[in-house]
Amino acid sequence: MRTILYTIAVFIFLLSAGTTDKLTAQNARIKIDIDRTIGEVNPLIYGNFVEHLGRCVYGGIYDPDSPLSDENGFRKDVFEAVQGLNVSITRYPGGNFVSNYHWKDGVGPKEDRPSRMELAWNRLESNHFGTNEFMDYAKMMGTEPYFAVNMGTGTIEEAQQWVEYTNVKEGPYYAELRKQHGYPEPHNIKYWSLGNEMDGFWQMGHLNAEDYSKKAREAAKLMRLTDPTIKLIAAGSSNMRPGSNPMEWNRVILDELKDVVDYIALHMYVGNPDDNYYNFQSTPLVLEQRTHLVKGLIDEAMTRSNRGDRDPIYIAWDEYNIWYRWRSSETMSGTRALEERYNLEDALVIAGFLNAFIRNADIVKMANMAQLVNVIAPIFAEKDGMFKQTIYYPLQLFAQNVNGTSLDVFVDCDKYDTDRFFLGLGESQAQLEDVPYLDVSATYKENGEVFICVVNRHKDEAITTDIISQTGLFEGEFEVYEVNGPDVKAENDFGKTTVETVKKTNVKAGGAKITHSFPAHSFTMLKGTIKK
Ligand code: AHR
Repeated sequence: MRTILYTIAVFIFLLSAGTTDKLTAQNARIKIDIDRTIGEVNPLIYGNFVEHLGRCVYGGIYDPDSPLSDENGFRKDVFEAVQGLNVSITRYPGGNFVSNYHWKDGVGPKEDRPSRMELAWNRLESNHFGTNEFMDYAKMMGTEPYFAVNMGTGTIEEAQQWVEYTNVKEGPYYAELRKQHGYPEPHNIKYWSLGNEMDGFWQMGHLNAEDYSKKAREAAKLMRLTDPTIKLIAAGSSNMRPGSNPMEWNRVILDELKDVVDYIALHMYVGNPDDNYYNFQSTPLVLEQRTHLVKGLIDEAMTRSNRGDRDPIYIAWDEYNIWYRWRSSETMSGTRALEERYNLEDALVIAGFLNAFIRNADIVKMANMAQLVNVIAPIFAEKDGMFKQTIYYPLQLFAQNVNGTSLDVFVDCDKYDTDRFFLGLGESQAQLEDVPYLDVSATYKENGEVFICVVNRHKDEAITTDIISQTGLFEGEFEVYEVNGPDVKAENDFGKTTVETVKKTNVKAGGAKITHSFPAHSFTMLKGTIKK
């Protein structure tokens, strides 16, 4: 009798275990394997951008009349927020601005600098902030400077002279001029882009792909003769308007500049003009598709290049963000241009972009959020204070933590299809099938640290997920950092932080699996350890 009862008990236990397994099988799954790697995450993907546009420079990072500024005119409160972003590389001075910018206007005694009509964004440019002011700020930030030369109305000679001014220690005229301006040591600016968005009809001095390539090649020649150590970035496609042919531009310039440049720059701005949350959330996947397309073009060009030992050309997403609200002729003009205010759904898209950069770490070696302060920016300042916008928080989490080797994650979760939709204003259309509700990237460091970054795109439901390690076991506890808010339209403001990073209760980790429930409309970074 005892044996029969025992057998029944074991049978019931096995049955219930089977039920549990079945429930577990319904969980979403993320599998990571430290042996399946994509590439090293380059810290330069946590870059940013300072353009002479609206209040990014004047009234943003630089405001000499403000009591909140230091002796150099830099806003101290803004700078503190900037530091939180751990900005690895900062692009300067434009953007569209650079295509009619003549750098000599912005050096030397301020009282002698000419005021100019700023034609890209319709402002008066005092030139009180220029090369040396930017370099002072960059040094304070601890960021790598990345300059763009004027390939619109500028000449190749002017580009050469700028490199001489910034990078040559002494001797020639412009190196000596820098010394006279109070900078005895060269700035040693390593990264230079050959113009900005030169495929765009809106660009001052816009060129076709062949003419751009010729001018860029000759500028590169003079710039490299001046300083052979510099890295050069070609202006890739930016014109995504229906009817344009961005990949043809990329193909031609890669073919023409394949032995000359180190990166091709790509730009992408998305938005939610039709207020369709799910369409909007899928936009990082389009950035990823474009990355793959350009990678293919690079691979093809590399088969015919004579680069010798040099690295292949990499992709620099040197402008990316959400920009669709401040996009009329009035809101793109003057001293208060592009002052987009962000909400939670925007922050989730930014986390999606960053995940996409990590998942393509083998080819995306630089990225710059556009821009740093006030102008489509994570930091928003007025005369008497500042606040951190929603998009600040995912960028901060990534930039402060997520480095190492990118892992090839497997994700099994529910999916959705989008409509055919415009990706943003001035953008092409897309239609995507099987968009996973969970958007995931993972990285691993030699010391065993692993970071798993997850956007739950679902607007209403938490997604309980098993995270499975296929090589090595999880150890100790996972720290959980979450960016979320009461609803997807939640915004921050002066004195009101509704969306921010919250540290949640740690998850116990032992063995090959941890289970976590990702709340609706959230971004989560899990930080833990894998022992081989
Ligand atoms: O970042 C704002 C503008 O967007 C830049 O000046 C230009 O390059 C792009 O079109």
